[in-house]
Amino acid sequence: MTIDVAKIRADFPILERRIGDAPLVYLDNAATSQKPKQVIDALTDYYTRYNANVHRGVHTMSVEATEAFEAARAKVAKFIGARQPESVIWTRNISEAINLVAYSWGDANVHAGDEIVITAMEHHSGIVPWQQLALRSGATLRIIPRTGNGRLDMDAARKIINSKTKIVTAVQMSSVLGSVNDVKTLGKLAHENGALILVDGAQSAPHMPVDVEDLDCDFFGLSAHKMLGPTGIGVLWGRPELLKAMPPWMFGGDMILEVSYEKASWNELPYKFEAGTPNIADAIATGVAVDYLSALGMENVRAHEIEITGYALKRLTELERVEVLGPTDNADRGGIISFNHADVHPHDLGTALDRMGIAIRTGHHCAMPLVRSYDVVAAARASFYIYNTTAEVDALVEGIKQVERYFQK
Ligand SMILES: Cc1ncc(COP(=O)(O)O)c(C=O)c1O
Repeated sequence: MTIDVAKIRADFPILERRIGDAPLVYLDNAATSQKPKQVIDALTDYYTRYNANVHRGVHTMSVEATEAFEAARAKVAKFIGARQPESVIWTRNISEAINLVAYSWGDANVHAGDEIVITAMEHHSGIVPWQQLALRSGATLRIIPRTGNGRLDMDAARKIINSKTKIVTAVQMSSVLGSVNDVKTLGKLAHENGALILVDGAQSAPHMPVDVEDLDCDFFGLSAHKMLGPTGIGVLWGRPELLKAMPPWMFGGDMILEVSYEKASWNELPYKFEAGTPNIADAIATGVAVDYLSALGMENVRAHEIEITGYALKRLTELERVEVLGPTDNADRGGIISFNHADVHPHDLGTALDRMGIAIRTGHHCAMPLVRSYDVVAAARASFYIYNTTAEVDALVEGIKQVERYFQK
């Protein structure tokens, strides 16, 4: 093991939980991760010791809150390889980050006749904001297809991205197939055609080292709740020169410099995009989540994931009636495995596994077009994180076998 899973598990109080008579086996990490006590304690600490508004007060607690809030921003910047902390904007989640770009940058820069390129692996959050921008602007939405083995069709990408393209947006890791996409090459293709690229890091940032400078992307988004942090907080990173040129998207306190009844002027980055009192406690706790992951080392987090995913793929593909959607080879792949059972509907499977304490996701995984491209309306999905063990993979496989026996009766 590259990380000490037993030691890690001791940090997560929820893993002590039992579902009915069974110990919890939490395999729904792509939906949201569990939180270590360090993150939970950071929330309590803020509310019990220095709860105050940021950027406004001269009193001690306001200064402390502001320092902790801005320190958390700097930690996230470092975590994703961003050189300037002010290029990190706090949002509610990655959905809001993508909407910010689609409205602010999109409405100012995308016009009739332009093309917006997304991939066949986008989450609804990576489809609908662009589809709506296309409808508002008269631009065309184009989709890079997937191959039969669940990879992006890069030959098609080379044809689809052209001089009409204004922006390309792509998931770095598919939330359904687990595929890790070559977003660096997509970014290169976008730039060669004078377009920008937004990378959806919702599933990659929690699981692998990310460096926005090395990726050479223009925007990058993540949600803290998928990487040990609280819900209700996410991040948009953007190239500072792009963010500076973009108009604000929401208006209110903190984002202004001067206000009269006739007009207003805008604050500097990042505040121009952070109207109103921000989510202070959750931002600070996100900094602690990032500390936790950084102490483990993202290379080690990734190595653990490769190990457990390889084992899970081996065990699941041994089951004759189970079909894995997406890549079954363990290269360029994250710890997300969607699968279907020939005889058991995913909802029945998920419900039966829950009785054994095993939490998996069932449904369309917020990616209806992708799941439907496999000629199914729903799938089961197991997804792993730092606290999962191969024994839990065994529990999943034994659970599926038990359900099979029941349905065969
Ligand atoms: C790839 C991807 N993008 C975007 C999202 C949306 O995340 P959120 O609901 O936190 O905004 C998810 C959530 O599952 C995701 O997996």
